[in-house]
Amino acid sequence: MMENNRLYQTIFKRKSVRNFDPSPLDRETLDGVASQFNKLVPMVPGIRTEMRLMTNQDVRGMFKVDAPHFLAIFSEEKDGCFLNAGFIMQQMDLFLSANGIGSCWQGGPKPTKGLRSVDGLEFVVLLAFGKPKEKIHRESVSEFKRKQLAEITDIKGKDDLLEPARLAPSGMNAQPWFFTDGNGAINAYYHKSIIGDHMNQIGVGISLCHIWLTSRHLMRNAEISVGPSSTREGHRRYAYAASIKLT
Ligand SMILES: Cc1cc2nc3c(=O)[nH]c(=O)nc-3n(C[C@H](O)[C@H](O)[C@H](O)COP(=O)(O)O)c2cc1C
Repeated sequence: MMENNRLYQTIFKRKSVRNFDPSPLDRETLDGVASQFNKLVPMVPGIRTEMRLMTNQDVRGMFKVDAPHFLAIFSEEKDGCFLNAGFIMQQMDLFLSANGIGSCWQGGPKPTKGLRSVDGLEFVVLLAFGKPKEKIHRESVSEFKRKQLAEITDIKGKDDLLEPARLAPSGMNAQPWFFTDGNGAINAYYHKSIIGDHMNQIGVGISLCHIWLTSRHLMRNAEISVGPSSTREGHRRYAYAASIKLT
């Protein structure tokens, strides 16, 4: 619970770090990062995933940041796998930030050929990390460049849950989410895109992670159900992703 609260508090100050000390973190710190893998909670327990530590040389591609370390998540290809990967990796993003380690999501870069699958699981996305050479925390929520709450939801009276979702990071800061009321649950939608559906689903998984951590902080349980977009009507340019209900 203590740990969850630290992650929750970090939602309101984290930021992407793109300036790193090139030297690797010490063994003890890296062991601490790896031991966190066992504590990660999936959004969809039926999807098998694996986390791997990688070096700068293991990773290539556009918008890569020059970090000494990278985390890669691999997953079974199933409905909800991108939401699930976003949900899981965001726990690492917050964990690193809470511990003074800089991190930056990496949607552009990929592991080099030969490192793109693990045990029959496919590579999904990367998070760069290392010793920061810039500030890693914001001083206040006003420093976040984000849409207003009214632009991302028509739900009234649940700001305590939706404000943390609003602050979530997303590829190109697109904030590809919308939230509607689903009979007491929050229905989450991702912005449909010809080129970026996967990234947008990862983004919605990240925002749902923030709602889920908030429910833990409020000492409530949260049930998350994921359905194929065909199970619910879409919302304007958005497709249905998942629902989260506090119990
Ligand atoms: C799925 C995803 C992919 C991203 N890909 C990149 C990337 O390839 N390169 C990069 O520099 N930043 C990347 N970012 C970081 C975003 O640009 C950043 O989160 C966003 O601008 C909000 O800023 P903040 O994280 O400082 O709050 C990515 C973020 C997410 C969530």
